[in-house]
Amino acid sequence: MELIVDKKKYKLKDISDDTPVLWALRDYLNITGVKFGCGVGMCGACTILLDGKAVRGCQTSIKEAIGKEITTIENSEDRVINTLRKYWKEEDVAQCGYCQPGQIINAAGLLKQNNKPTEQEIVDAMDGNICRCGTYNRIKIAIAKAAK
Ligand code: FES
Repeated sequence: MELIVDKKKYKLKDISDDTPVLWALRDYLNITGVKFGCGVGMCGACTILLDGKAVRGCQTSIKEAIGKEITTIENSEDRVINTLRKYWKEEDVAQCGYCQPGQIINAAGLLKQNNKPTEQEIVDAMDGNICRCGTYNRIKIAIAKAAK
């Protein structure tokens, strides 16, 4: 089986195609920027882009991802992700930081579908990404700046 992650091709062996992409990335490919939070699709820590659309890595099997482009927080060449990184830094968004890779990738998924979201569209799109430090307001401001 082959996965395309951040523009690189990886061969996977000795792993069932029912395995969530989250574990293929973290345990087999050492792409640990993608985080494990709840494992049941409720927190957003594991968010990746699949052909540009934000999905939960813990709820997406390898077989669903084969032949598609996976984009993770470890991608350093994606223009939208890099713009978000810039404003994340400028707004000093992260506190403990654990959920932030998923937050940035979910925001990237939003901006790739809608590059001029309203405040309400930002709030709605980010609704499922939990931050226990409560950085939501700074996240919203950083996304709004990245969208300008
Ligand atoms: Fe996937 Fe929480 S670890 S949504």
